[in-house]
Amino acid sequence: MFKRIKRLWGRNKRQERRWKKEFYEEVKDLTRHPVVLRMKLYPHHGVTSCYAHCLSVAYQNYKWSRILRLDARAAARGAMLHDLFLYDWHECRAKTGNPVHGLTHPESAYKNARKFFRLGRKERDVIRTHMWPLTLWRIPETKEGWLTVITDKYCGALETCKRKEKRKRVKGR
Ligand SMILES: [Fe+2]
Ligand SMILES: [Fe+2]
Repeated sequence: MFKRIKRLWGRNKRQERRWKKEFYEEVKDLTRHPVVLRMKLYPHHGVTSCYAHCLSVAYQNYKWSRILRLDARAAARGAMLHDLFLYDWHECRAKTGNPVHGLTHPESAYKNARKFFRLGRKERDVIRTHMWPLTLWRIPETKEGWLTVITDKYCGALETCKRKEKRKRVKGR
């Protein structure tokens, strides 16, 4: 039994390493693009930058698309661009007067992304609908879009918890 678990665990780890390599090949051009690199300047959830958040969502999308036999390339590339709104949303209201960043940023990200990259139907859907159900009227039309609705919230929650843990550790000192 233990041997079997150990074997499965080893196989999963090997597979994860292989997927990570293949994932990187699919999004390499995006991750090095100067416009995408600008996301490193903007904090998203606590200490996590927009860039790191997009990379996490992109990898989760890639991994789950491989498991569920979806379009892993489109899911990963769309997710890498899903928050390409290029501003610090914490200052959004004060600087632009826009109080509803949560509702408007998928469209801003989509406009920026289409200026610099060729987007297919699935990538478009991933970017424009990732905030559902907040954006009630933008319902995902593809499985990759539905997947992103989940992975985006999953990664966001993890990143927010990380921030709270860090705060607790600092207070405890
Ligand atoms: Fe977003
Ligand atoms: Fe996001």
